[in-house]
Formats: sequence, structure tokens, C-alpha cells
Amino acid sequence: MNHGVDVIGSREDPHAPIRVARGLPLMLHSLSLLREQFEIVFAHRKIKKVVEVGVESGQVSSIYTDLGADEVYCVDPYPSDELRSTLAKNPRLHLVESLSPAVLAELPVADLYVIDGDHNYAVVNAEVAWIIANAPNAVVVFNDVLWPCARRDMYYEPSPLTGADRHESSADGPTVFHDELTPAGLVGLGAFTWSVEAGGERNGVLTAVEDAVAAAGADDWYFEIVPAVFGFGILMRKTAPGAEKIMAGLRPYTSSKLIATLEANRIALYTRVLQMQYEAVAHANDTDRLAETVSAQRHEIEQMHAELARTLQEAAELRRTVDELRHPHSAEPPDLLSAARNLKRAAEHFVRKARHH
Ligand SMILES: C[S@@+](CC[C@H](N)C(=O)[O-])C[C@H]1O[C@@H](n2cnc3c(N)ncnc32)[C@H](O)[C@@H]1O
Repeated sequence: MNHGVDVIGSREDPHAPIRVARGLPLMLHSLSLLREQFEIVFAHRKIKKVVEVGVESGQVSSIYTDLGADEVYCVDPYPSDELRSTLAKNPRLHLVESLSPAVLAELPVADLYVIDGDHNYAVVNAEVAWIIANAPNAVVVFNDVLWPCARRDMYYEPSPLTGADRHESSADGPTVFHDELTPAGLVGLGAFTWSVEAGGERNGVLTAVEDAVAAAGADDWYFEIVPAVFGFGILMRKTAPGAEKIMAGLRPYTSSKLIATLEANRIALYTRVLQMQYEAVAHANDTDRLAETVSAQRHEIEQMHAELARTLQEAAELRRTVDELRHPHSAEPPDLLSAARNLKRAAEHFVRKARHH
């Protein structure tokens, strides 16, 4: 399955494969891209019940029924209208409008758990610990076990987490280009926040999985990562049915340095685009401010021009008056009244100017 992307274009239509890319989101993040890997899981393990934690648009949910699942419990506390109508089309998909991990105990024990809900240590660690204790033979898959969530908590907001379950968080987001959060990074725009610090204890999705598996005895478990789409993790008890075959089937993907390099490059390019968008908006704001300043200065210049014109007119009238006073024998008798008026106006003008300075 390749989302309709033909690998090779024909001589008649050389652009066909890449044209499909125009319809894809700029940043692919959905587990629906991993259908090939789910096919490997379903090929080696009978999977009838699925619990899908974190559903978003619902574009993955029907993959499980397509591959043979009877029931899929789709857990999402914030379902959109799009999700409701997508799930309503398939009677084997059941919307569960609740928060994981609390809801897990209320659902039937599943053969497959898909963990892609709240991306932080407290939630994921509790989810994995619950599954290991209550469904130890289940296949567990995760999204976001690599950068940026691997070692840095992300909190869907408003978050129910408090106290030690939550690190100091920020609306700024991570970027490939430096280690600290930045407003030009992968920001949640109100939907989620990030832990200010990355690394250390009790921080991030991968750290959460590692700790839960270590507590259960790491040697008894397989945990592998397909380094694509932000990190697709797969966890199985070594003695669980199909575990060895599933891990062997996934090995070309989990061991691929090529996939890992392309993924890192994809994320770098995307965060570069975010940075450029941020800078473009900042420049547009600067340009707006500059335009306002130019308009205010133009207005001031117009006022100064008007003032100058008035002053020049007053000076001309003054000059005429002085001439008339200097030449009392001119043909016309001097207009003493307007001369006095001009002198008064000139005096007022100089007083105004003196006050202004
Ligand atoms: C990254 S999206 C899931 C994407 C989806 N699995 C896919 O691959 O297309 C995460 C989803 O988890 C939901 N979520 C957040 N906190 C949750 C929680 N505590 N339990 C279950 N779902 C949660 C969010 O509402 C969001 O829809």
C-alpha cells in the first residue's frame, strides 16, 4: 500500500507518481502510512479485538477491520465531527469518548493496542504498565517513539496531568535546528504544549516505554522501532504467539539506516519550512509597521508644506508692506490698515514659532 503513489511514471504520463504528492499534507504523521507494517502483524497473529488510543481523523481505524479485526475500540476524548462520521460508516468501529489510560480497564482485553494518544511519560508509562499486566500477549504498537516526543513530553491541552506527572511546559515547539524550544518550531497553537526541558527522567514517550518494559523484565520483551513517521514502535512479549515472525517480517524496516536518514531529513526540511513561515510572518509584520510609520511621516510632511506655504505668503505680504512704506510717493496711496494687519500677523507668527521651539 503506497497511498496511491505509483513508484514509476510512464512515458505518456511521466509526472503521475509525483502528482499524488500534491494532495498529501506537507507533514505526514498518521499511522495510516504504516499499512504495510500492520499487514505483517496481521499475517502472523490472529487479531480480533483492537484498542486504538488516539484516533484523530479516524483514517487508520478501518485498516484494522480491513485486515480482519472484528471490533475496534477507538478511544479519543476530543472527537471531531469528521471522526464521528468516519466511524459511523463502519459498524465494527466503536467510538469511546474517554481518556486513556483510565479507560483501558473498562474495555475488552484486546489482541492489538495502538498507542497514539497523549504523548507524555505519565500517560504512556501507565498505558504500557496496564497492558503488560492485563494483556501480556497483546501486540502493542506506538507512534512517536522517536524525535521530538522520544525524550520530551507533549501535553494535549487542557491536560488533566498535575504535579510530578507534568514538567514545566511551553507553547513554543521543538525544531531540528537547535535544542531549545522556539516559537518557530512544531507548535501546538493551543492544542498541545511541550516540556521546556528534553531528556532526563520521566520525560518522553520512548523513556516511558523503556521504563515500563524494564519494570516487567526487559529480557522477556521485543521492542523494535521502524524509524519513519516519527517512530513506529512495536512491543511484544517474546513468548507471545507470532512474536518472532512479526519481528522478523518487520526487520527490513526496523534495521534500515536509509529509512532513518530519510526520516531525519524529512523532519529537518519540515521544521525549516516552519522557520521560514515564521520569518515571513515576522517580516510582513515589520513591513506593516514600516508602512504605518511612512504614512504618519507623509502626513507630517504635508502639514509642514501647508505651514511653509502660509509662511511664504505672509513673508510676501510683509515684503509688499515694507516696499509701500519705503516708497510713500508710489502711485497708489499706502494701505496703512492692511500694512498694520500684516505686521501683526508676522509678529504672531514669530511668537508662535518661538513658543514651539
Ligand atoms: C496524533 S493524534 C492520533 C493520530 C492517529 N492515531 C493517526 O495516526 O492518524 C493524537 C490523538 O490523541 C487524542 N488524545 C489526547 N489525549 C488522549 C488521551 N489521554 N487518551 C486518548 N486519546 C487522547 C487527541 O485528541 C488526538 O486526536
